Amino acid sequence: MTYLANKTQPMHINPIFNPGGDDRIENRSIWFGNTTNLMQLNDVRYQWATGLYQQMRENFWIPQKLDITQDVTDYSNLTSEERYAYDGILSYLTFLDSVQTCNIPHLKNSITAPEISVCMAEQLSQEAMHNQSYQYIIETIIPNEKRSNVYEFWRRDKVLAERCEFIAKIYQQYVDQPTSENYFVSLLADYLLEGLYFYNGFIFFYNLASRMLMPGSADIFKMINRDELSHVRLYQKILPEAMATFTHSNEQIYEMFDTAVQHECRWTNHIVGNSILGITDTSTEQYTKYLANIRLRAIGLNPLYTEEKYQKSPYTHLERFSDTKKEAFTKANFFEASVTSYVMSSGVTGWDEI
Ligand SMILES: [Fe+2]
Ligand SMILES: [Fe+2]
Repeated sequence: MTYLANKTQPMHINPIFNPGGDDRIENRSIWFGNTTNLMQLNDVRYQWATGLYQQMRENFWIPQKLDITQDVTDYSNLTSEERYAYDGILSYLTFLDSVQTCNIPHLKNSITAPEISVCMAEQLSQEAMHNQSYQYIIETIIPNEKRSNVYEFWRRDKVLAERCEFIAKIYQQYVDQPTSENYFVSLLADYLLEGLYFYNGFIFFYNLASRMLMPGSADIFKMINRDELSHVRLYQKILPEAMATFTHSNEQIYEMFDTAVQHECRWTNHIVGNSILGITDTSTEQYTKYLANIRLRAIGLNPLYTEEKYQKSPYTHLERFSDTKKEAFTKANFFEASVTSYVMSSGVTGWDEI
């Protein structure tokens, strides 16, 4: 295979305006194209991106419109382990959406297909809004004197601090040395964050909701979950193109996945552990490895964990709590986020192709 980019090649970053560019679709590519940077969206090369963008816009929601008042009472009735996990997961998710808000522009700066740039712009807007939804939860539910502790949990919790540093370091490596290899790694790290790092947290909130606890929080996380899955699909579409464009080794990808799984399990066992009804470190491991397998398959690679138990989710009973808009938004399996997971009933075109 001939790759366009060797590992040490500096990544091409788009100028603001490039009058000498060529926007014809037959000459378009996701990276290393010669775009004028004009958003020529009439004729697009990557049709799936048009459908995905429309879907992302259709997912628009406002956190403050969701009623979370019941959760204020429920929060004080949680066990101390549940409250500890609730605060810690909230803190971790705040970190994830914060780094995404910082990093997406770095990835987007090299994209030369405007139909994909607009998806990343929408993703960026959603990540920023997710931070606003955490603020809404923290201000409404967490008692005043504890609020800054949630934001600053990483300052006191060594496991979380190490996790944050590891995630940020991979992104920072590209910012410091913008080579094509570091760009490819940053893209993969993004996919791992979108596709693997949120879900044990989501499961914790659906688990509480399944026991009639914190229903407002679960409603908010359902919406964030839905947004994140649209981001997963974006990277599922561009990563196979990246694998054909950038020099890389599949071993490196498997290694990154395996490290991501280990870190995710370590953190979840630390913050949730075995003290929450319905979650154990065994189910966490099974779920995380199952997720890694489906994310690998979705980008055309083989599952990393071949044992039978890692081929299915241990949390299928929680799926009904993630169902958001039943009348307009039915799906076969919310968590799997396969390309056929979403069926639109509202006449939006272009979605069916992805
Ligand atoms: Fe997000
Ligand atoms: Fe995201």
